[in-house]
Amino acid sequence: MTPRLRLIVGNWKMHKTIPEAVGLVEHLADLLKKSPPTNVTIVIAPPFTALSAVASALTTHGLFEGTGGGTSRPGSPPVSIAAQDMHWEDAGAYTGEVSPPMLKDLGCRYVIVGHSERRRYFGETDALVRKKVLAALRHGLRPILCIGETWDQRARNQTGSVLAAQLTEALTDVDKDQGADVVIAYEPVWAIGSGQPATPTQAREAHRHIRARITARWRHETGERVPILYGGSVTPENIGELLAIREVDGALVGGACLDPPQFARILAVASSAKA
Ligand code: PGA
Repeated sequence: MTPRLRLIVGNWKMHKTIPEAVGLVEHLADLLKKSPPTNVTIVIAPPFTALSAVASALTTHGLFEGTGGGTSRPGSPPVSIAAQDMHWEDAGAYTGEVSPPMLKDLGCRYVIVGHSERRRYFGETDALVRKKVLAALRHGLRPILCIGETWDQRARNQTGSVLAAQLTEALTDVDKDQGADVVIAYEPVWAIGSGQPATPTQAREAHRHIRARITARWRHETGERVPILYGGSVTPENIGELLAIREVDGALVGGACLDPPQFARILAVASSAKA
């Protein structure tokens, strides 16, 4: 049986100036070349200001996979870049915002949408997240749609209904064909940055629930193809048991991706994870 391809996304959040970002990529590139992971799709999401410099640094190392496909040398896994957010319009009077064509221009293939920090600190609603999902798909960017419950909602047994509502809202109007380009990240809000990841049982249950909803929505063949990532306090120590869960297709990594040796270890574990 061919091993499943794992998708590992590193979300840098609001970290790294341009020189720091380039330094991080250089270090990561060295580690990846020394022991290239296999069966892993690697995506990193630096802040907007560093996207261009990161793409150039990856290109220099023959590791960049931009919108036109890979430039990767044999043996080295390619790395794609993602934005952490975007506006849904192509252009306009939206001070401070960044549009999908601008991200495409930089070589982004993915964009994170609806991260819980955007929802919590910037008031993003499901209705707004939906516009971003649709805009990303319209422009050929793969949206990484983040959903997840708060601790209170879990304590009140609302996890299933919260996930269902977030999915329904954000994916309204996304048809079966577009659905194949969507990536979903299950990120329990209480697990993000807390050092307390979901237990394998909690992750399995949530991922099964999400899978059931999207297969019901887009039918089996598309629903089964959508990668469902786990995010929230992922480390090299716990990634193995999370990826051992059949329903977990990869991870969205925050804190640990800022440290190249840790991120490289996560990729190494992902590459040896059982199908
Ligand atoms: P964390 O963040 O790995 O630092 O918990 C994950 C995320 O917010 O995507």
